[in-house]
Amino acid sequence: MAKPKVFVTRMIPEGGLELLRRACDAEIWSDELPPPREVLLEKVRGVDGLLSLLTDPVDIAVMDAAGPRLKVISNYAVGYDNVDLATATERGIPVGNTPGVLTETTADMAFALLMAAARRVVEGVEYTRAGRWRTWGPTLLLGHDIHGATLGIIGMGRIGQAVTRRAYGFDMRVTYFDPYCEPGKGPFVDVAVRCSLDDLLAEADFISLHVPLTKETYHLIDGNALGKMKPTAVLINTSRGPVVDHDALYEALAAGRIAYAALDVTDPEPLPADHKLLTLPNCLVVPHIASASFATRTRMAVMAAENLLAGLRGERLPHCVNPEVYRAE
Ligand code: DGY
Repeated sequence: MAKPKVFVTRMIPEGGLELLRRACDAEIWSDELPPPREVLLEKVRGVDGLLSLLTDPVDIAVMDAAGPRLKVISNYAVGYDNVDLATATERGIPVGNTPGVLTETTADMAFALLMAAARRVVEGVEYTRAGRWRTWGPTLLLGHDIHGATLGIIGMGRIGQAVTRRAYGFDMRVTYFDPYCEPGKGPFVDVAVRCSLDDLLAEADFISLHVPLTKETYHLIDGNALGKMKPTAVLINTSRGPVVDHDALYEALAAGRIAYAALDVTDPEPLPADHKLLTLPNCLVVPHIASASFATRTRMAVMAAENLLAGLRGERLPHCVNPEVYRAE
């Protein structure tokens, strides 16, 4: 019997590719950059399965181009805002993602950004490299204490809770805003203080974003929200770039209305090298690498491959974001 045909939009770690090569006729896009739109539309023609990345918009045109054989879409990410879920669901196509395995790694990065911003680590590195370090200075590169400060978590899901655990290790107080999280659910949620978004914005010294990108969270942090923060506040974003209005963020940082932003995710991605945010000394940007550890990216690859293979066999995906597709069965 012919093996199912799949298209994989980038070289994911070998652990996942090996599973796919064994069971499928797999075409793997080997460039460093994502397949251009017209190439993606061409490559998906007649596939049984698609393994996509967060950089690939998997919309109605892609599903149309794939045609009626398309049985499963497996996204190599926990976030799936790049996939038109409504269309996939309408067509009975299960969509997989990679939850859980990247929680701790992403939380590590959120905390690394928090610490780097608070203690001006990147500015210190640049200062030293530029040969400007001439003496120990009483007011040189002063930052903000982490211990004793209040961390406001927006979105108390798995990653928000993992960041909370780290914060307790640093003697921080934690508040959170999450209309979907029941009080007391999760090991640390019962000790963190649930509050309104306005109270969190007004009281937190550090604000860390852990929400998915949806219509509701698009520009959740806009000029109005930034205006409610303390002038000493530090904003950390490891969720999705468009959760923050970048023009408003630039204005707030440039005018000193908030102290610092540390971003793993931006809008757009990649952030152009001449973007105005990159001109600010109080804005630290890294290239969407919060889940980028060797172990985690391999676990994500295996999980994405297992989702794809399950879908190809007509089985329930181990991690499916539109389980409604099974309800009609
Ligand atoms: C995700 O999985 O959604 C992250 O943004 C990348 O690991």
